[in-house]
Amino acid sequence: MCGIVGFTGNKQAAPVLLDGLAKLEYRGYDSAGIAVRDGENETEVIKEKGKLRVLAEMTDNGKAVKGTCGIGHTRWATHGEPSAVNAHPHASDDGNVIAVHNGIIENFQEQREKLIKKGYAFHSQTDTEVAVKLIDYYYKKYSQLPIEAIARAMVRIRGSYALCVMFKDYPGEIYCARKDSPMIIGIADGESYVASDVPAILKYTRSVYYIGNMEIAKLEKGAVTFYNIDSEVIEKPLTEIKWDAESAEKGGYEHFMLKEIHEQPKVIRDTINSVVTDGRVHFDSVSLTDEEMQEIEQVYIVACGSAYHVGMDLQYVIEALTSLQVRVELASEFRYRKMTLHRKSIVIVISQSGETADTLAALREAKEQGIKTLGIVNVIGSSIAREADNVFYTLAGPEISVATTKAYSTQLVAGYLLALQFAKARNEIEEARYDALLAEINTIPEKVARILEDKERIQWFSNKLINVSDSFFIGRGIDYAIGMEGSLKLKEISYIHSEAYAAGELKHGPISLIENGTIVISVVTQTGLIEKTISNMVEVKSRGAKVMAVTTAGNYFLEDTAEFVCYVPKIESLFTGSLSVIPLQLLSYYVSIGKGYDVDKPRNLAKSVTVE
Ligand code: F6R
Repeated sequence: MCGIVGFTGNKQAAPVLLDGLAKLEYRGYDSAGIAVRDGENETEVIKEKGKLRVLAEMTDNGKAVKGTCGIGHTRWATHGEPSAVNAHPHASDDGNVIAVHNGIIENFQEQREKLIKKGYAFHSQTDTEVAVKLIDYYYKKYSQLPIEAIARAMVRIRGSYALCVMFKDYPGEIYCARKDSPMIIGIADGESYVASDVPAILKYTRSVYYIGNMEIAKLEKGAVTFYNIDSEVIEKPLTEIKWDAESAEKGGYEHFMLKEIHEQPKVIRDTINSVVTDGRVHFDSVSLTDEEMQEIEQVYIVACGSAYHVGMDLQYVIEALTSLQVRVELASEFRYRKMTLHRKSIVIVISQSGETADTLAALREAKEQGIKTLGIVNVIGSSIAREADNVFYTLAGPEISVATTKAYSTQLVAGYLLALQFAKARNEIEEARYDALLAEINTIPEKVARILEDKERIQWFSNKLINVSDSFFIGRGIDYAIGMEGSLKLKEISYIHSEAYAAGELKHGPISLIENGTIVISVVTQTGLIEKTISNMVEVKSRGAKVMAVTTAGNYFLEDTAEFVCYVPKIESLFTGSLSVIPLQLLSYYVSIGKGYDVDKPRNLAKSVTVE
């Protein structure tokens, strides 16, 4: 949560900071601030509650703020309410140290009390102010060297952080430190940049360094030096970012979410093509060998939110194609379970950002137990990508809208290919079936495109949901997993209360909530389970529910029960999730904009959850 940006060079810093923060606003948007220094002059700090546009108006888009070195922050509140006082940057009282921070300092209370005893006063409720004053304390107490002061503070601080710090005695320089929160450093001719995420600096440079855990960096104009926690200089490789800047822009769509929904055919195709050549799945880039896949008996899929829902779908696919046992776990639960993992297992963590704190912790727990790990990750160079033994990169490109769509779809298709490869490596699938399933996977992009062509029907139906307060999603098997995702999409961006139930569970409690006008959205694609789900639809309908169904083309008999039926193209049953989720994404989008909400930035949420 929170986005940070820093710049030092020869051009005016504030417009660069505001521009970068705009690309990071998906990470947090309850307050924002910048600190900019003009040569030897005092640093100017401007911060305010509200979205970035408030800060942009206060500074004439940064043009009113002089100086060529600065740091900026867009906040998602953890410690202390959203307010100007709690907004970053935070400074020591004499302005010696000024910093922005992303992450959580767990022992901030204890450090704060120690600093109060040493004479420090605190003005905000944030943990960041504690970090600033701790650095200031060590700076003054010891050598007055920034690297050393930061390193001493890092040893005292528990938790996660990406910190950008400016020191009064070092104009034109920015110091950065990182532990478990994302941060990249970009370099161009005479200019240096730092940011929480690539889109913030992509306009200016593609040459980036990934700063590691417990490392520090010093940014000067066009030069970066890295240090370890012992203040020794270390070397880091420079990486070239391949994303084009346009993929981080709206590209003519009204919202990022709609753009990203429409990008799905392409990014699914890219993800398939990354591992499929000559009609075969090749896992060289994932570096998981056939021998390793043969030895595995148990699969754990661990993730949060929508990525967890991908796991829920994949368990059916993997279990149908192989003899593997699959358990799907919420990362926030998995990390604290006292569970001895099966020795012959693999832990698959799924994450768009590659930075989700709980998923990262689950990955580390698995590694500690000596279990093989695989990350299905979108962001190259992210913490999970770096720490997992094997990585399958989804090629969704930058996903800006807080509610995931295209990353979800690429994770799902990556999972299908993984399941297929497991089946092949373990000799559990016949050649003809393998070919047929791969051919089916290859039809997904074009079928998704066809669903998107018919979006006006869904837009029309979405009007019926604008005034409802409760909704239910039901389904069986893969349809249940898709219902879970549809339900999350709807609640997170339209603020309509929504629950997903395995249709067979209705009678065990939830049916008592059905009354006149309750919306029930039913996903009905799984051959063999259709009649059973229809019975559940009839049961809720007879109690007054308004029923909508998403089903496969040809199942026209559903119109006898459902008030509105949305058809998706026919596809092998195991892969229907990739298609049936699309109308549900569109439905949520249209309900949200119909209610006038900020669909790309739903309240209380942030794109990457780098805190617990
Ligand atoms: C919902 C959504 C979240 C994420 C979850 C995991 O639309 O986007 O539920 O799926 O926060 O995030 P990643 O995939 O970055 O680990």
